[in-house]
Parts: sequence; structure tokens; C-alpha cells
Amino acid sequence: MKNIYEEISNTISRLYRSKNKIRNLHKPILKDQEKKILEKVINSSYVSSVGPYVKKFEKKIEKFTKVKHAICLSSGTSALHISLLLSDINSQHEVLIPKFNFIASANACRYLGASPHFVDCSEKTLCIDLEKLELYLKKICTRRGGKTFNIRTGKQIKACIPTYSYGYVFNIVKLKSICKRYNITLIEDSAEALGSFYKNKHVGTFGKFGILSFNGNKIITTGGGGALLTNSNLLAKKARHISNVSKVFKKYDIHYDQIGYNYKMPNLNAAIGYTQINNLKKIIKKKNQLNKYLIKNITNSQKYFEIYKQKNGSNCNNWMQLLIIKDKKIKINKLLLHLNQNNIQAKRAWSNINKYNYLKIFPSMKNTNNNFFSKIILLPSNEFEFIKK
Ligand SMILES: Cc1ncc(COP(=O)(O)O)c(C=O)c1O
Repeated sequence: MKNIYEEISNTISRLYRSKNKIRNLHKPILKDQEKKILEKVINSSYVSSVGPYVKKFEKKIEKFTKVKHAICLSSGTSALHISLLLSDINSQHEVLIPKFNFIASANACRYLGASPHFVDCSEKTLCIDLEKLELYLKKICTRRGGKTFNIRTGKQIKACIPTYSYGYVFNIVKLKSICKRYNITLIEDSAEALGSFYKNKHVGTFGKFGILSFNGNKIITTGGGGALLTNSNLLAKKARHISNVSKVFKKYDIHYDQIGYNYKMPNLNAAIGYTQINNLKKIIKKKNQLNKYLIKNITNSQKYFEIYKQKNGSNCNNWMQLLIIKDKKIKINKLLLHLNQNNIQAKRAWSNINKYNYLKIFPSMKNTNNNFFSKIILLPSNEFEFIKK
């Protein structure tokens, strides 16, 4: 078995162009255009949240995703927080979220005192298992006054936040209809999925809200930042207001009409995003090529591993390349050690987040997942890293 680790790590490292460089998991691609625009913004002195690039970047996101309103914020997490606030979520409520997940949606629930309620994911889609969810809701819920309550805790199940894991998509139309049936608000964590579509509609635009992240590791970046997506004029107006500390201008005076949050994206960051989004289509094309290249060279050439491949009916951004271990005998930590020693900065995928101490106490679907999710490795996914010229 020892040689298998060397074999796979050599196979993967051979796919890179040069040998001795560290292959980062995901590096931002920042070039002269970004330098130029940053210099322009610095010279203008509008480095904070006042300045033209926030609006300009928002317009570009709206055009690309075909959403009515994109509101640039300081992070994807703050966008999740605002989504839950404007859905009136509080400590009396439960919010359905996937177990296999990034931590942000669970934290956003906790900011408001709400209980995350963890549900299982599907191996096929890496998101909520919709068949299991339907059976589960039938079993654990009761309906009163058009609302859905958890029989055991007595709390209202008021929202659901599916995550498009690593940019891959699932049947959001089906989830939307389940949520509608149970009167559950749908908020899409599409932080990693800019450029992913379900049946030609951009993800993050199906629910009441969607969110994006422009953190340094995302498909495009603003350094740090995020966006809230909504098709509602009223909700967009409210979101702009509370994310700007609920400021009300009265002639030469400023008032505050409710609790507000300092969540606005600075002009400096928006300027980077405004430049980056011009390359998005090109990046997605290269990422799709990379996915095909890895499938050809890994999935089709040996029996121990496969590269995750999105099924039909969708058009995803292939943001992160996932290596799935098929052979039970292979120890993931040992493989990661070999890959990292070979300068390949591979990493384990998320764990089920309901295992963390501060989240353990919240409701959870009885664990029926096998260990599929613990057998996923993230591979360096910069579109230019792999493809040999
Ligand atoms: C799936 C997912 N949700 C939410 C977030 C939160 O975004 P941010 O880091 O911009 O707060 C991230 C970002 O890392 C993410 O990957």
C-alpha cells in the first residue's frame, strides 16, 4: 500500500507544468489592471465606502447574475447575517442547514440566537439530500397557522440555507417547492458559486436572498467582501439601510432609526472586484477545461480515485477540484502528507459542522450519511496551474 501514496502523488504532480513550485489550493489572480485601478482609487482618496466603484461593481454583478439587486457588503458572512435579520429570524426559530458545510451559515444563525438544524447531504450533489429532507420534515414537523414547527423542540422551522458546495449545484427548484409547501424562507449560500447556473438561471437568485463571497480564495476576489442578492425592491432598500448603520440624513444632521451594522464594502475593494469580474467568463471556461483534464488524467486512468463531476441539467463554475477516494484502504492523512510533501497544497474538504462543541446541542437529522464526505480532498484549482501547454 505504501507505494500507492507515492504513485498517486506523483501522478498528480506530473499534471503540473513545473515541478518545484508550491501549488496553492487557490490563489487570487491579480494583475496590472488591479494595480492600476487601485492606484486610481488611492489617488482619488475615496478608499472607504463612498466612491463610484461600489455601484459600478453592483451593476456588473446584477448584469451577470440577472438579479434585480446586488448589494455589496464587507463579507459573505455579513450578507448571511443581513438575510436572516430581514427574514425576521430570532431565538424562537430553527434554520435548516446542511451538515457538510462551511461554518458561516451556522454562525449567522447564532448571531441572532436562532438554532441551526442540521440535515444530511447527498453524495451526488454535495448539498442537502432532498429526498431525505422531504421524509424527515413529514416525520418531525407539525403545522399550525400556516407555520411549520419542530414537534420535539416546539420551535418554528422558519428558514433554510442550502450551500452550493465548492460551486457545484443541485436541484434548487425542488428545494424551493419543498420550502414553499412548508412556508420556510429560502436563503441560498452561493458564496462559492458565482458563475454557476441551475437550468440557465444563476444560483443565488431563486430564494428570498442569495449571497456571494469575494474572499481571496474565491473565483473572483475583492480582497475581502461579499454581496447580497435579492429580486425584491423593498428588501434591497432595507438591506442597504441596515448595512449602512441605519443612517438617516436630515439636512446637515445624521440620525439612526434602528440597530445598524457597519457592513458596507469599501470603494477600494469594489474597484478590484469591478476589474476582476471582466475576466469571469474566461476563468470559468478554463476551470471547466481543468475539470475535464483532471477527469481524463485521474478518473479515467486508475481505480483508486475519481474527480468530482457535476451531473447534467446544470452549468457550474467548477471553482474547486475535488478528488474522491474510492478505495477504502487508502488513508486520507497519509495521502495528504505525500501530496503536500510533493508541493501540492491539497486539503481535506469540510467536516460535518454539527460535530463542533458549540453546535452539538442543536437539532440534527439522525446521522445516516456514510463516510463519503470524509473521503474528499481539495486539489489546487487555479485554472492556470494544471493545464499543460
Ligand atoms: C460556502 C461559504 N459560505 C459562506 C462564506 C463566507 O464568506 P466570507 O468569508 O466572505 O465571510 C464562505 C467563504 O469563505 C463560503 O465558502
